[in-house]
Amino acid sequence: MKGGRSGGMADVIAGETAISTVGKEGNGLTYRGYRIEQLAEHASFEECACLLLYGTLPSDNQLSRFSASMTGKRQLPAGLLTILEQLPASSHPMDVLRTGVSALASFEPETDANDPLDIAARLLGACPSLLLYWWRYRDGGGRLDTAPPGHEGLGVAAHFAELLHDGGLAGEALRALEASLVLYAEHEFNASTFAARITASTRSDVYSAITTGIGTLRGPLHGGANEAVMELLEHYQDPDEAEAGVVAQLAEGKLIMGFGHRVYKVRDPRSDLIKRHACELAKASGDLRSFAVAERIEAVMRREKRLFPNLDFYSAIVYRHLNIPTPLFTPLFVIARLTGWIAHILEQRTANRIIRPSAAYTGPEPLLWKPRNERI
Ligand code: ACO
Repeated sequence: MKGGRSGGMADVIAGETAISTVGKEGNGLTYRGYRIEQLAEHASFEECACLLLYGTLPSDNQLSRFSASMTGKRQLPAGLLTILEQLPASSHPMDVLRTGVSALASFEPETDANDPLDIAARLLGACPSLLLYWWRYRDGGGRLDTAPPGHEGLGVAAHFAELLHDGGLAGEALRALEASLVLYAEHEFNASTFAARITASTRSDVYSAITTGIGTLRGPLHGGANEAVMELLEHYQDPDEAEAGVVAQLAEGKLIMGFGHRVYKVRDPRSDLIKRHACELAKASGDLRSFAVAERIEAVMRREKRLFPNLDFYSAIVYRHLNIPTPLFTPLFVIARLTGWIAHILEQRTANRIIRPSAAYTGPEPLLWKPRNERI
C-alpha cells in the first residue's frame, strides 16, 4: 500500500460488513440489502435506524417500541446542562456535540449491564437535545425544555425542527429533512465509521467510539463539507459569477467542496435524491438563486473535472431552505450517522480483533546514540 498523498488506503478492503454496500454495482448504495432509492422515498428515519441497528425492517410494534424508547430519552442530566451552559457561545456546534456525548458517558457510563441498543436510543434522543439546548441558550433563548409535552410522537426530524424554530416543519419541508437523515445514516467504511470501528476494536465503550466518529466527521474533506458548500454558494450572486469563480478556483488547484468521492466514480446516488428535494424547496420558496448557482457549479465541475456532486452539495441547499443555520449542518449529519456508527460498533464487537495495521517505514536506518556535547 502507498503512503502520503497517493495512499489514503484507497482500494484497500479493511474488513467485512453486512450493513451496507457502497458502489457495489458501480453507483449503488444499499442498507441491509435495501436500495437507497426505496429507503429515501418510503422509510422514515426511525425505520431506517431500526433497519441499520437491528438488521431488518421493523414491524409496526417494533417501530413503536423503538420510537418510544428514543423519545423517552430526550431529557438530559442536570449536570450535563450545566456543562453545556459553560461552553463558549463561540463554540462550533460540532465541539458541543463531541463534548456533550463525551460528558454523557460520565453520567451514564456503559457497563456490562447495559444493552448497547438502549445506548443507541439514548444517543438518538439526547444528541438533538444537547445540541439545541446549547444553541438556544447561547442565543439568549433561555433554558430549553428538550422534551416538552406534545413532542412524544415526534420523530427525530420533526423534534429537531420544533426545538430549533418553535414552529416545526410540515409537508415537503419535513419530508426533505427526513430524507436527508436517511441518506446520511450509513455509508460503509467511510473515515468516521472506520475510526469508530477502530475505537470499538480496542473494546472501548460506545460513547468513546461515537466521540471518535464525531471528531473524524468534522473535517471538511468528510462531513464538514456541507458547511463549506453553503459558504461557496453564498459567495456568488448568480450562475455566471459562480462559473467564473469556480473556474478560477480550479485554476489555482483548489478543491470545490461537495464534489468527488473516494468510492463512487461516476455519480453519488444520494445526490440525485437530495437534489430533487432541493429543487422542490427552491421552487416552493420562489427563491431559485442558490439552486441555479448550484446547478451551474455542477455543470462546470462535470465539464472541467469530470466530477459529480456528492450528498453534501445539494443537502446544503435543502438545509438553507429549511432555515437551518449553517453551523448546524454537520451536526445534523452526526445525528443521522449515529445509526450507522452504532450498527458498525456492534458489528465490530461480534467478531472483534483489534484493528492495528502496519506501516511501511520511511525513516533513517539505525543510528548510534550520541551524548549531547557531541551533537551538532
Ligand atoms: N474539487 C476539485 N478537484 C477535486 C475534487 C474537488 N472537490 N475532488 C477530487 N478532485 C481532484 C483531486 O484533486 C485529484 O486531482 P489530481 O489527480 O490532479 O491530483 C483527483 O480529483 C482525484 O481525487 P482524489 O484526491 O484522489 O480523491 P480522494 O478519493 O482522495 O478524495 C474526496 C475524495 C475527499 C471526497 C475529495 O473528492 C474531496 O476532497 N472532495 C471535496 C470535499 C467533499 O466534498 N467531501 C465530502 C465527501 S462525501 C461525504 O462526506 C458525505
